[in-house]
Amino acid sequence: MDKQELIFDGCSMTELAAKYGTPLYVMSESSILERCREIKKDFLEKYPNTRAAFACKAFQSLEICRIVTKEGLSLDTVSGGEIYTAFKAGVPMENLYFHGNNKSLEEIRMAVDYRVGRVVVDNLYELEALNDYAREKNVTMKILYRITPGVDSHTHKFISTGQLDSKFGIPLDTRVTGAYIKKALDMSNLELMGFHFHVGSQLAVNDSHLAALAVAVNLMRDVKNSLGFETQELNIGGGIGIHYVEGDHRPTVSEFLDPVMKELYDKCEKHGLAVPLVTIEPGRWIVGEAGITLYTVGSIKEIHNIRKYVGVDGGMADNPRPGLYEAKYNAVIANKMGLPTKEKVTIAGKCCESSDILIWDIELPEVESGDILAVFSTGAYNYSMASNYNRIPRPAVVMVKDGSDRLIVRRETYEDLIAKEI
Ligand SMILES: Cc1ncc(COP(=O)(O)O)c(C=O)c1O
Repeated sequence: MDKQELIFDGCSMTELAAKYGTPLYVMSESSILERCREIKKDFLEKYPNTRAAFACKAFQSLEICRIVTKEGLSLDTVSGGEIYTAFKAGVPMENLYFHGNNKSLEEIRMAVDYRVGRVVVDNLYELEALNDYAREKNVTMKILYRITPGVDSHTHKFISTGQLDSKFGIPLDTRVTGAYIKKALDMSNLELMGFHFHVGSQLAVNDSHLAALAVAVNLMRDVKNSLGFETQELNIGGGIGIHYVEGDHRPTVSEFLDPVMKELYDKCEKHGLAVPLVTIEPGRWIVGEAGITLYTVGSIKEIHNIRKYVGVDGGMADNPRPGLYEAKYNAVIANKMGLPTKEKVTIAGKCCESSDILIWDIELPEVESGDILAVFSTGAYNYSMASNYNRIPRPAVVMVKDGSDRLIVRRETYEDLIAKEI
C-alpha cells in the first residue's frame, strides 16, 4: 500500500513540519469555529439570557481571543497575564470573568482599572481588597461568589474542583454563606450578581453538574428567604470532556446542557425563583480536539523482550499532562498514514525525567528516525501549560484553515531563554 500523509484542516502535516520545524503545535481554526457555532446554536440561541465564556487557561493567545470574541463568546480569565492578553487582543473588558483562589492585590487592582465585567470572588480577603480599591477609584464592580457545591466529579482528582475539601470557593455551610453574602451586600462598591461553580474537567457525563445545580438552586432559595437576595446570575463553569483515546466520549452541547437547563427551569419554578442569567465556561471542549502536536522521531531504543522506546524532540516541556495526571493520547506517523500498524512502542519525551513519557504502548507502523509523529487532541492545556524545563524553547503555534496555514506564535529562541536575565 502507498504511504499516505496526514491532512488536517486541508493542510499536509509533513509539509508543515518541514516549513516550521518540530515540535510544532498545529491548531485547526475550522474545528474551533465549529465548536463555537454549536455553542451558539444549541445553547446561546436556544436559551434566552445565557452567555458562554471561553476558558483561556485551556489555550490563550491574541489570535484565539479574537476568534472566539468574533464568534460571540466572552472570556474566562484567571490571572493578570490572561486579562492583559485579552486586553491587547482588543476584547471588550466587560466580556471578562476574572477567577482565582488567591488573586494578588496587583491583579485585583488591575481588574478594577481595566473594568473587568465580573470578578468571581473566592474569599473575604479578596472581597475587602476589591471593595477598597473600587471605592478609591469610585467604581462599582459586579461580582459573583465562587461556591464549593460539595460534589465529586468523575475525573482525575487533580482536575476535580467541586468537592468540599477544595482550595477553590466558599464551602456551602450556612454558617459561612450567610456571613459571606451579608458582607458582600454591605460593601459600598460591589454589586453581588450571583454565584459560580466549577466541578471539574474532562467530564463525559453531566451528573456532577446536575448535583451542583441542585445545591446552587437551594442556596438561591435560602438567600432569597433569609436575606431577600435575588440571584441574577449563575455561572456553571466548564468541564465538558473531549475525545483523547478510544472509549472517550465527547458529549454534544445539547446532550450535556439540555438536562442541566431543564433542571434549572424546573427547580426555579418549584421554588418561585426567577431564572438567572446562565454562563458556561468551556475551555477544553472548544480547543482540545482542534490541536495536533508534531514531533520528529530521533533515537529508537529496543530493550529486548521488554519495550521499544521511540524518542521525540519534545515531551513534558510542551505537554506536561501525561506526567501531571496520567493523561492518555493517541498518535499516528504523519508520513505513513496508509501503512498497517506493525509494532507496539512507547513514545518518550526528551526531558531528564523518567515520567516524561508521552504515550505508553501504542501500536504504530514501523517507526524510523526522521518520521513525523502527530499526537492528537493537544489543543487544550498543552501550549498554555508549556515550560522551558531543561531550557527547551517553546514550540511555535500554527493556525490552519481549509488548506492555508499562518503562524500565530513564533518558536522561542535560545536568546528568548536568557532575555530576562540580568
Ligand atoms: C473556573 C473554571 N472555569 C472553566 C474551566 C475550564 O474547564 P474545561 O477546560 O474543562 O472546560 C476551569 C478549568 O479548570 C475552571 O477552573
